Amino acid sequence: MLNNLNSIYQEFKDLVKTVGDERHLDEIRVKFLGKNGLITNEAKKIAAVPPESKREFGAKVNQIKSEIQRNIQEIKEKLEDIILNEKLRTETIDITLPGRSYQRGKVHPISHTIDLIKNIFHSMGFEHIDGPDIENEWNNFTALNIPKNHPARQMHDTFYVENSAKENGEAENEEKLNLLRTHTSTVQIRHMLKNKPPLKIFSIGKVYRSDHDATHTPMFHQLECLVVDEKSNILDLRGCLEIFLKLFFNLEQIPMRFRTSYFPFTEPSFEVDIKCDRSKKGEIKIGAGNDWLEILGCGMVNKKVLENVNIDTDKYQGFAFGIGIERLAMLKYNISDLRCFFEGDLRWLNHYGF
Ligand code: PHE
Repeated sequence: MLNNLNSIYQEFKDLVKTVGDERHLDEIRVKFLGKNGLITNEAKKIAAVPPESKREFGAKVNQIKSEIQRNIQEIKEKLEDIILNEKLRTETIDITLPGRSYQRGKVHPISHTIDLIKNIFHSMGFEHIDGPDIENEWNNFTALNIPKNHPARQMHDTFYVENSAKENGEAENEEKLNLLRTHTSTVQIRHMLKNKPPLKIFSIGKVYRSDHDATHTPMFHQLECLVVDEKSNILDLRGCLEIFLKLFFNLEQIPMRFRTSYFPFTEPSFEVDIKCDRSKKGEIKIGAGNDWLEILGCGMVNKKVLENVNIDTDKYQGFAFGIGIERLAMLKYNISDLRCFFEGDLRWLNHYGF
């Protein structure tokens, strides 16, 4: 038995001399130490060896086993050294190559404008409120005094969303989610349903209308502002707008003009123009000159809207306004084409980003 062990060890020593690479070395390892390896099989025999020679045989098997393991490890390290040295000899590093450069990201002008507006309204004591993009008809239209078949519904070019209400034959249930909000005025409704006056909130977010040309994109952003308390009136609305616009455009004076207008959810309603100078081609200068530029819609919240959300109209009144964020950004940063905002062109972003 011991002879057999010795001859196995001899076989290993002969074989190992021929090793050329790591794969070959591994084959040898499996042949001797693998599950059915020659040494492994010898070790399995230990139990059956007669007691008087068991100790000697067992010790010998273990000794040869560790010899082989040590040998294999040594050869493995040598092979690795050879590979590494070969690599060091052949691979060169060209230290004259320029380093890898990293492009710094920039903040999109819309995100930047939104941050700026949020800061302004927070500084004026307004609370920021969010609402969902997918809305129901009641919040988007009915509660805002735009009943079914009202022409304003057509004016909004609404995207309707497939939903379960239709599948369940509840298509008439206008409180089920089924459209992409066409304006942020939906947030007024959501907030007034859940909170009692006094209210002083603003909301900024995406709105959607099926429209696409140089001045319209199917998705854009709006700012909505709402104040409801016991006494807020048109002069407060005007003051609030004036402070906001001055802070936003960073100007001492912004002459404003209120034109009567119509929104179903405000009464009276106004469109507000600001003074601007268009005399230089391709540029609009705000706050100076002889032209007027329409900038936002506003008014005193219609009594019917307050009633729809169960606010006591004998006690409370308020004002609201809505502005397009892209419009503000275009004017402040002199950007001429609305569509560029959403094309994801890195050259444009690098130029206009922050
Ligand atoms: N919701 C209106 C729109 O999208 C804007 C607006 C808001 C007008 C609040 C008046 C008051 O056109």
